[in-house]
Amino acid sequence: DGSAVANSGKSVGTEVVYNNITLYVSKPDESIRKARTGAAVLYLTDVFGIQLLENRLLADSFARAGYLVVAPDLFNGAPAPNDLNTPGFDTGAFLGLHGPAATDPIIAAAVAYVQATADGTAKAPVRIGATGYCFGGRYAFRTAAAGRGAVAAFAAHPSLLEDGEILGVKGPASVAAAENDSMMPPARRAAIEALLLNSTQPYQVALYSGTSHGFGVRANVSNPIEKFAKESAYLQAVRWFDNFL
Ligand SMILES: *[C@@H]1O[C@H](CO)[C@@H](O)[C@H](O)[C@H]1NC(C)=O
Ligand SMILES: *[C@@H]1O[C@H](CO)[C@@H](O)[C@H](O)[C@H]1NC(C)=O
Ligand SMILES: *[C@@H]1O[C@H](CO)[C@@H](O)[C@H](O)[C@H]1NC(C)=O
Ligand SMILES: *[C@@H]1O[C@H](CO)[C@@H](O)[C@H](O)[C@H]1NC(C)=O
Repeated sequence: DGSAVANSGKSVGTEVVYNNITLYVSKPDESIRKARTGAAVLYLTDVFGIQLLENRLLADSFARAGYLVVAPDLFNGAPAPNDLNTPGFDTGAFLGLHGPAATDPIIAAAVAYVQATADGTAKAPVRIGATGYCFGGRYAFRTAAAGRGAVAAFAAHPSLLEDGEILGVKGPASVAAAENDSMMPPARRAAIEALLLNSTQPYQVALYSGTSHGFGVRANVSNPIEKFAKESAYLQAVRWFDNFL
């Protein structure tokens, strides 16, 4: 149920370095892991990175659902500041530095880590579901394209997601959208739906009222509407992976 989502407290995962990429790894208890042996969740963060406590806690929440969770440090230790309006921080320059040419290889290293080390008893290849938030949402789609390593995708309020990336997705794709989202306004949301409608793989789009961009991770959980939406988006992703991985 929704209480599976940790919004505060200490994160329980560990950082490992693999192929010179830092990964936040959260493992389920062996007792619940058994049901999900052979599946894993690749957690792709927003611009605040694996350094943000809410990202670690949400990754841990997927581990509590039974999945091995691997979240790569997409920004090499230098994520965006918690307040994007921090003087001196240039969002455009940051996004320019972290386009697909820089980001895809980091994700590929995380996929390789999952396949190489997931579980001695798992039959390779491990079936990977990619879950992404804002910045990472686009990459959940990219990683579910042919040969990129994920077989299913979930994206909450994806930003910069391109038409070709939607058309290129090969696995089942699920989207959680915010009511207020300048990165995914109603017209763009409709266009994304039209593209998915035209696709042949299973898809799902859910719109959450009372939310704004970022709610899947950084909801104000003191606000019951936002808390409900964050938990619902988490459960949407878990149900998707439970069904398709
Ligand atoms: C490892 O990654 C860092 C950036 O995170 C880079 O500066 C360094 O050159 C890399 N080292 C190797 C051996 O690739
Ligand atoms: C959906 O497919 C139809 C028929 O191929 C095409 O005419 C239409 O432009 C497509 N819509 C989108 C949004 O891709
Ligand atoms: C959405 O944006 C409008 C206009 O900026 C604002 O009045 C409203 O409070 C916002 N709603 C949420 C849920 O953030
Ligand atoms: C979070 O929500 C609570 C309850 O609605 C509200 O009192 C508080 O001001 C909100 N905090 C922020 C930072 O918006």
